Formats: sequence, C-alpha cells, structure tokens
Amino acid sequence: MHYSAFTKRISGRGAGAWAIHERAVAKKLAGEDILFLTIGDPDFDTPEPIRAAAHHAIESGDTHYPAMRGTVALRTKLAARLSARYGRPVTPDTIMIMPGAQNALFGTSLCLLGPGDQAILLEPTYATYEATFGAGGAEVVTVPLYPALGFQPDPADIERAITPRTRAIVINSPHNPSGSVLTPDRLRAIGDIVKAHGLWLIADEVYADQCFDQPFVSAGSLADIADQTVAISSFSKSHAMTGWRIGWVQGPKPLVDHLYTLALAMMYGVAGFVQAAALAALDQDDAVSAMRDELKARRDVVLGCLAGQNRVRAIAPEAGMFVLLDVSATGLSPFDFATRLLEEEKVSILPADSFGPSATGLVRMALAVDQTMLREACRRITACAARCPG
Ligand SMILES: Cc1ncc(COP(=O)(O)O)c(C=O)c1O
Repeated sequence: MHYSAFTKRISGRGAGAWAIHERAVAKKLAGEDILFLTIGDPDFDTPEPIRAAAHHAIESGDTHYPAMRGTVALRTKLAARLSARYGRPVTPDTIMIMPGAQNALFGTSLCLLGPGDQAILLEPTYATYEATFGAGGAEVVTVPLYPALGFQPDPADIERAITPRTRAIVINSPHNPSGSVLTPDRLRAIGDIVKAHGLWLIADEVYADQCFDQPFVSAGSLADIADQTVAISSFSKSHAMTGWRIGWVQGPKPLVDHLYTLALAMMYGVAGFVQAAALAALDQDDAVSAMRDELKARRDVVLGCLAGQNRVRAIAPEAGMFVLLDVSATGLSPFDFATRLLEEEKVSILPADSFGPSATGLVRMALAVDQTMLREACRRITACAARCPG
C-alpha cells in the first residue's frame, strides 16, 4: 500500500544512535542488568505536590475535553513567569499549551515551514530536529557549533547559509547534546540576523532551568524581534515530568491562533488534570533548584572520575543532563566504542556523531542515575577504553 511522502520526511537521521539503545533494551528484556545512560530522563520522581494536584483534578471531575489553548490559570501564571525570564511583558494570549516541547516544535514547524522553504539548524542537533523541521517539506540546512569554541556558533556561518528560501533559524540553548549555553552576545548577533533578513527565530529552551554556572538568557529577551521569535519549552526536564507530556509555545498571537487550529485538527489539547499538575508545578521552584543542583553534582562526579586518564576526555557541560565524551583516543568510532561498552560492560550510551559532523569522535552519556551509579559507569567506561586499541 502507498504511504505519503510525509512518512519519509519524518524518518530522519539519528537511527544509528538509537540502534545501541534498542540493543540495550533487548538485552534488558532478556534479563541482563544494563546501566542505561542513553536517554535524557533522570531518575527523579515528579515532586509530590504536582502529583497531588493531578489526583485532585481527576477526583474533582477534570476529565472532560480540556481548554485547548491551555487553561487561563495556567497561561496567566506561565505568562508571569516568562515575563520575568524575558525581562519584558508576556501576555497569556501569546501562549499555547502543547503536549510537550516535541509537539510544540513539530506544530511550530508545520505552521511556519513548507515546501521550498529552508530552516537553518546548528549541528550537532537534537536527534529529532531533522524530521521535525523537515516534516512540512522544508529543507534543513546545518551550520556547525564549534567544539573548540565550547559548542558556540560563528554568526558569520549563519549569515552565509541564508538564501532567499530561508525562513527560520532554529537554536537550542542550553544545547543537547553538548550542554553549551549560547552566550548573550551570540544570541544578540543571531537576533540581528533574524531581524535583518525578516526570518523566524525558533528557540528550544527545554533545559533553561538547568544552567549550572551562569544565568540563562532566553531568546524571548530580544524585545526588538518579539514578533519574529517563537520560544518553546516544557515541564519535562525542569520538573521531572517527561511522561506527563506538557509544554508550551510562546510567540506572536497569529502563530498561537494557527496552533489552535492545528490542535483542533489533531490532538484537541492537553488533558485538564495534566494542566492542573503543571499549574502546581509553577509553585515548585525549590524542587527545580534541588534537581538542578543534583545534576550539577552528578556532572562534577563524572568530570572527577574521568580525570587522570587520557583515553576518554569529558567535555564539561554548562547546563542540562548530558556529558559528551571524546573517545577518539580509543581508536574506535563512537558507534564501535558504544557497542563494545554495551557488550563488555553493560553500559548504554549514545554515539553522538550521528547528531552532526561537529560531534565526530564523541559519545553522549546522560546524568540519569545517582552519583554512586555514575561512579560505577565511569569505572566501566575507563576500563573498556583502556582495553581498546588506541
Ligand atoms: C533539545 C530537546 N528538545 C525537546 C525535547 C523534548 O522535550 P519534551 O519532553 O518536552 O517533549 C528534548 C527531549 O529530550 C530535548 O532534548
């Protein structure tokens, strides 16, 4: 039977990376004790007051069709939060509640990018971007983030990549997989390019609450291009709510209206009791800080454990929940190293080079388990690396 061209567009790159994870899952199902460091979903429980709010909403009968743009209460509280983050007023009618940032990115892509258009991405990209931003028929063009610059872009590269078909520049800061945070001057430079060429700036900010060493500067703070900026985030990472599926798009009102009609055509909003949980989540700042502090401590454990040998070099992230490891000194490709690590030491990590050529030689480990387990993971990683040909 025939399947649409769309199905090809949504099966992008990244399959190679996930092959290791799938093999690890199969091993676990077969009874092997695998240490999973592949996915950005730490072992933190959703804080109790958030869970309680969902229970209460269900028991109170919030089980009908939901407010499709998001409840007024949630969008109002979020707008206040984003006003503080951006340093300018944000109104609730510029917010659309979506089932997670992934859905928010996908919906935004469908509403802004179509056949013949180009979107500029900075590579290495988050694994799903090629499919997400190519879904509507647009061509994805990549420019590098430079490891030697701490995975920052050179704005001149972006300027050079612009053609008459360019519609959007997509940024992801804090960045997956490197954990780099776009510097304020580079963000401003990208904003100037967006302004000069009349483009969209699409900013994926899901790790905004997990900056370890410096304050986060949101794309929403670029007040002069507010009507060209779409800032996307979610509760997944900040509030340990990956499974709840709730996030948002903040952008110009006409885009929010298009996302509303997309919601009508596709998913009919986010469950009311999940929205109630998200509303309660906005009162959980202490829990957010505690999880960020724990991720920072885990990062420091990994950096400490991998110091003092020269086969695996950890690249310190400034934010988020991943650490990139340079394994080129093992003499193996990232895929071969990850395969060997899984087979010999039962640790599952991701080859990062399938996220873009600027991640050549790198694997990604997630800070998804506690500090003791991370120490053990590092011990196994260095043991495996020491046995490699070099
Ligand atoms: C950069 C980035 N964007 C978006 C997402 C998806 O987030 P959500 O769970 O809110 O859909 C992830 C998840 O890992 C991510 O790393």
